[in-house]
Amino acid sequence: MTADSENDIKYLKAIGHICAMALKKMMEHAKPGMTTGELDNFGKEFLEKEGAQSAPQAMYQFPGATCISISPVIAHGIPGDHVLHEGELINIDVSAELDGYFADTGGSMVVSKHVPEYEKLLEATKSALQKAVHAAKAGQPLNLIGKAVQDEAKRNGYGVIYDLTGHGLGRKLHEEPTNIFNYYKSKDRRILEEGAVLAIEPFLTTGKGHVLEESDGWSLRTIDRTIAAQFEHTIIVTKNEPIILTI
Ligand code: CO
Ligand code: CO
Repeated sequence: MTADSENDIKYLKAIGHICAMALKKMMEHAKPGMTTGELDNFGKEFLEKEGAQSAPQAMYQFPGATCISISPVIAHGIPGDHVLHEGELINIDVSAELDGYFADTGGSMVVSKHVPEYEKLLEATKSALQKAVHAAKAGQPLNLIGKAVQDEAKRNGYGVIYDLTGHGLGRKLHEEPTNIFNYYKSKDRRILEEGAVLAIEPFLTTGKGHVLEESDGWSLRTIDRTIAAQFEHTIIVTKNEPIILTI
């Protein structure tokens, strides 16, 4: 959507903040011995308390309120009876709707332990998100977002996942512009418009950068079973720095 009124911005900020809080609380709550189903339930209760509705559930009948992915699954992991253990690399993705407006956020983390190999990847992915957000400006090519992600990945010795992209959103979870690639695509001539609401979500990996869907019909894991990380923000594009909604 294009956020073109104070009202749009107000409602988008409200749902953006709820998603950000849900993600933060879930990341803090994730502990060894807990199942991903319990962690999801904790997130679901928070969303409900805020009056928000899980977007994947409402829009796609996803079997969970949030997506919780255990490496090498990196997206759309179904919360269930998997028991979290110390040192596991996981991703939590929260998207929700309130008053007809949607926001989407996500983040990767290591459960209760320092694992330098994973933490280095997390830092690089966070940094790629920052650079990508900074590259999103009205009047500028949309493919500068992918370029920023890919450059920052490369600078840190990582690759990107080619098959997973950011997207427009706002009145639905996924809208135009679709396919905000995490790499530079010279043929992509799209220009960013002022007020565009975008979910920017770099996925960095140590592997070749392709994913496949597991037999549960949802979970996306790296084909080569390498590690991957994702961080995601929903933003509103302006002529200057974007408005980050999911903080
Ligand atoms: Co997301
Ligand atoms: Co998204």
